Amino acid sequence: MFKLVFVSSRLTVLVLLTYCTTISRSQNNPLCNSSSCGDIKISYPFRLRTDPANCGHSDPIFMLDCRGNQTIMNSKSRKSYHVQAITYSNFSARISDPGLDTNNQPSCPIYSSTDNDLYSRYMFLYSTNSIVVTFLNCLSPVSNPLYIENPFCGNTSAFSSNSSRIHSYVTVGSILVWDLEEFCTYDTMAEASSPSPLEDDNYTYSQIHDLLAYGFEVSWYYAMCTKCEEDKGSCTLEDDKIHCRHYCYEDTPLSERSFLCKRSIMPFLFKNLTEHVCVRA
Ligand SMILES: *[C@@H]1O[C@H](CO)[C@@H](O)[C@H](O)[C@H]1NC(C)=O
Ligand SMILES: *[C@@H]1O[C@H](CO)[C@@H](O)[C@H](O)[C@H]1NC(C)=O
Ligand SMILES: *[C@@H]1O[C@H](CO)[C@@H](O)[C@H](O)[C@H]1NC(C)=O
Ligand SMILES: *[C@@H]1O[C@H](CO)[C@@H](O)[C@H](O)[C@H]1NC(C)=O
Ligand SMILES: *[C@@H]1O[C@H](CO)[C@@H](O)[C@H](O)[C@H]1NC(C)=O
Ligand SMILES: *[C@@H]1O[C@H](CO)[C@@H](O)[C@H](O)[C@H]1NC(C)=O
Repeated sequence: MFKLVFVSSRLTVLVLLTYCTTISRSQNNPLCNSSSCGDIKISYPFRLRTDPANCGHSDPIFMLDCRGNQTIMNSKSRKSYHVQAITYSNFSARISDPGLDTNNQPSCPIYSSTDNDLYSRYMFLYSTNSIVVTFLNCLSPVSNPLYIENPFCGNTSAFSSNSSRIHSYVTVGSILVWDLEEFCTYDTMAEASSPSPLEDDNYTYSQIHDLLAYGFEVSWYYAMCTKCEEDKGSCTLEDDKIHCRHYCYEDTPLSERSFLCKRSIMPFLFKNLTEHVCVRA
């Protein structure tokens, strides 16, 4: 639970004591009942719009809607994403673009990942097994095995030329300018991910469609850090557990130290820099 840490710098010698607390998951009001929408369980930090406001985190991203068994997450600019899963044990959720998670192949994203405004300190992209799918429009056919034919997803009137000559493609990964085939322009990009590690980079159209329909994963663990933040701790997620680290500095006047730092005695000084390691609580 406690670990002494010694950090020396040229100017001063600081003695740090780190102590960790593991935050319990039941940070929510015990009087709040969890809700559900379709097969998705909704509890703190999430809530449905119809649930009492104090049953969810105060950030509006956590206020979900339920429309015909589909859980909806609303971004700051009121884009409605589909929530495919919420996993409370590792503080994650899987979100999809409503244009891409249909059974229809081919399909087009409604939103572009480049102006995704779901993200904040409370919600960020979790990038394991994730890929970016780029949608391209070309004025002549491209014979590149990495370019897979797709319907035209964009706005035809944005093309000054004859739109029936547009050849549209999807490709996995973000395309660098020098990789872009001649007469091709970016249309949009979409985040995708896979339930298993991604290996080859030679995808078929239906594999790309499945990755897009599966959605992308976000982490919302920071919503569980309110108490830690109030206690001026440093909140991290490690091995699916939230840790709150507190640092005690020897040069902090006793009167300004937190309770645990006041009590600590620091008997030794080591010259070497010791990496601070927090023992799992
Ligand atoms: C939770 O459910 C119980 C039993 O159905 C009910 O009495 C209580 O009012 C509910 N609490 C809230 C916050 O809706
Ligand atoms: C939602 O799911 C329930 C249970 O599976 C089903 O009875 C109901 O008809 C569904 N509602 C809609 C609007 O699809
Ligand atoms: C959380 O668990 C779910 C279900 O096992 C898994 O699909 C997801 O990738 C995990 N996410 C993180 C961030 O560990
Ligand atoms: C299509 O593009 C034109 C010209 O760029 C623009 O005026 C129009 O609003 C766009 N339509 C849609 C649906 O985005
Ligand atoms: C657009 O191009 C197609 C094929 O090249 C041609 O058949 C068609 O007449 C063109 N339409 C216009 C409005 O130029
Ligand atoms: C990708 O797949 C195609 C068709 O199956 C094959 O011809 C090509 O060599 C593959 N490319 C790579 C890099 O594996």
